[in-house]
Amino acid sequence: MKQFYLNTMGCQMNDHDSEVIRGLLLSLGYGETDRVGQADLILYNTCCVRANPERKVYGHITSYRRLKEKNPQLIIGICGCMPQQKQELAKILEQLPHVDLIFGTHNIHRLPELLERAQNGERAVEIWDEAQYDEGQDFRDSLPIARGHGLKAFVNVIYGCTNFCTYCIVPYVRGREHSRLPEKIKEDVQNLIQDGYKEITLLGQNVNAYGKDLSNKMSFAALLKELDRLEGLERIRFMTSHPRDMGQDLIEALSTLDTVCEHLHLPVQSGSSRILRRMNRGYSREYYQDLVRRIRGMTPEISLTTDIIVGFPGETEEDFAATLSLVEETQFDSAFTFIYSPREGTPATRLPEQIPEEIKKKRIYKLIELQNSISAKKMQKLLGTQQEILIEGRSREGLVGRTRTNRLVHLDGPLDLVGSLLKVEITEASTWSLRGRIC
Ligand code: 5AD
Ligand code: SF4
Repeated sequence: MKQFYLNTMGCQMNDHDSEVIRGLLLSLGYGETDRVGQADLILYNTCCVRANPERKVYGHITSYRRLKEKNPQLIIGICGCMPQQKQELAKILEQLPHVDLIFGTHNIHRLPELLERAQNGERAVEIWDEAQYDEGQDFRDSLPIARGHGLKAFVNVIYGCTNFCTYCIVPYVRGREHSRLPEKIKEDVQNLIQDGYKEITLLGQNVNAYGKDLSNKMSFAALLKELDRLEGLERIRFMTSHPRDMGQDLIEALSTLDTVCEHLHLPVQSGSSRILRRMNRGYSREYYQDLVRRIRGMTPEISLTTDIIVGFPGETEEDFAATLSLVEETQFDSAFTFIYSPREGTPATRLPEQIPEEIKKKRIYKLIELQNSISAKKMQKLLGTQQEILIEGRSREGLVGRTRTNRLVHLDGPLDLVGSLLKVEITEASTWSLRGRIC
């Protein structure tokens, strides 16, 4: 049997696309291997949001030249967001001549044919500039999905992004927003429930924009309400939410719908209104803080996570201090922190006041230190509390599960508890995980 090695970088959209790729390859008779040296097909599903992961792809793929020399039948492929950018595609074609197979984010379903062409000795390269779809549909609808987990699953609700934050490449590589039909989403979820899934994460670059592009308009909150009614579903999560589009109806849905978990990922990006304006985020520091107050007012136990960029062009010490004070005041449960990375083709790259690398680094260390101390404090507060845990599997340390607020919990217990919802008392807390005892 031929073997494939699939490496996935970036966000959950890519994780889910890789489940589709895996489904396709398994249906073609391939088996999966995690040993790159044994693969007949090496495929990298890439991310282009920042420069670092891109550099890694060049490093890895360059080193695979050796494998190709040993085994000329080996196919090496790159797909996803990187080749979706014209200049990056040209660079791949030139600098990585041993890559045989390239496709993008809009034509994953073309993989079987492209792979066959690569196997016949052709350099199979195909990128579509835009997704081709009928209203409410997507090519992924009719493809097999090999899911990575038996209890929790991703379901796409909206593809693409049309926000054009000035630093972000996503709108250029994932296309404009298009929502899936609610019937399709419900059907997916119902099938997953039947297959024993307990938790669904609804995916979109901006789930709050869900339904605006459908001729039968529907809000994301209304979609949540319909899914909440489905018999047998325990937990619904969703990401990502854009603060600007977070309406009162969604704030209420978070607090009132039983299956919707008390966790919200709400990227703030900066604590300075001046920088937020330059980022084209469409809200101010004060708006964000008021939004958080309203969300916590209705759902006090909610876990709030965020994304923050430091070193955006023109960010002064004062702007950065505003980010630190926002983090201090908001008390996020955790934050993904990023050094601004100029992306070719985005407006922010052309701004004159780019920040030197040393300053960016200094700032991110300071920010991480502050957030870590807040995260640790928040975890400590859970000591002695009782939490509902979905037991998801096991690790070296026994069973592992998650709270409704998405915190990782280790506990002891028999393996047949996997898949059950249990009340657990929290007995230990560290910055990143908890330990508990079944009540
Ligand atoms: N540089 C640094 N971070 C970025 N992000 C998006 N684009 C960039 C960039 N050019 C971050 C944002 C976003 C997360 C997914 O990645 O914080 O929310
Ligand atoms: Fe990028 Fe902004 Fe869209 Fe998020 S909302 S994917 S940061 S353009």
